[in-house]
Amino acid sequence: MAETVTSTPEETEALASELARRLATGDVVTISGELGAGKTTFVRGACAALGVRERVTSPTYTIGHRYHGDGVEVSHLDLYRFQGVSAAEWGDLEPYFEQAIAFVEWPEAGEGVLPAPRFRVRLRHAGRDRAVAIDEC
Ligand SMILES: Nc1ncnc2c1ncn2[C@@H]1O[C@H](COP(=O)(O)OP(=O)(O)O)[C@@H](O)[C@H]1O
Ligand SMILES: [Mg+2]
Repeated sequence: MAETVTSTPEETEALASELARRLATGDVVTISGELGAGKTTFVRGACAALGVRERVTSPTYTIGHRYHGDGVEVSHLDLYRFQGVSAAEWGDLEPYFEQAIAFVEWPEAGEGVLPAPRFRVRLRHAGRDRAVAIDEC
């Protein structure tokens, strides 16, 4: 897994915008990494490249956000508060995966329940920088 080191949020956003160009409706991208690693920053960069003009913020206190991009719908989920995903919870989550590109922060709780991702992004602190790994699944 090749890692790219970024020194600023803008560099992380630029990596995300490169990935965004390869995405299409129905694709799922999981974004892993501890608090403050830059997951939401990454999603923000991808959303900007997809033409989303709404403000992209962490959906930690809601299940998710649905944004409107340039000819594409974009979902942004955060499973931080989940410990596994029950059938009832999946009922709430499923619509976010329909007719959209979906970004999922803290995907670990949804393993085996969420649709298979097309890309896995992992972010980690590397001193004051961040190391970003993007894997196609
Ligand atoms: N290279 C970098 N990439 C991404 N974020 C960075 C970087 N350097 C510093 N930061 C800062 O780290 C924080 C990351 O926050 P956020 O994207 O919300 O993380 P997470 O969603 O993983 O909790 C922001 O305050 C951002 O400005
Ligand atoms: Mg976040």
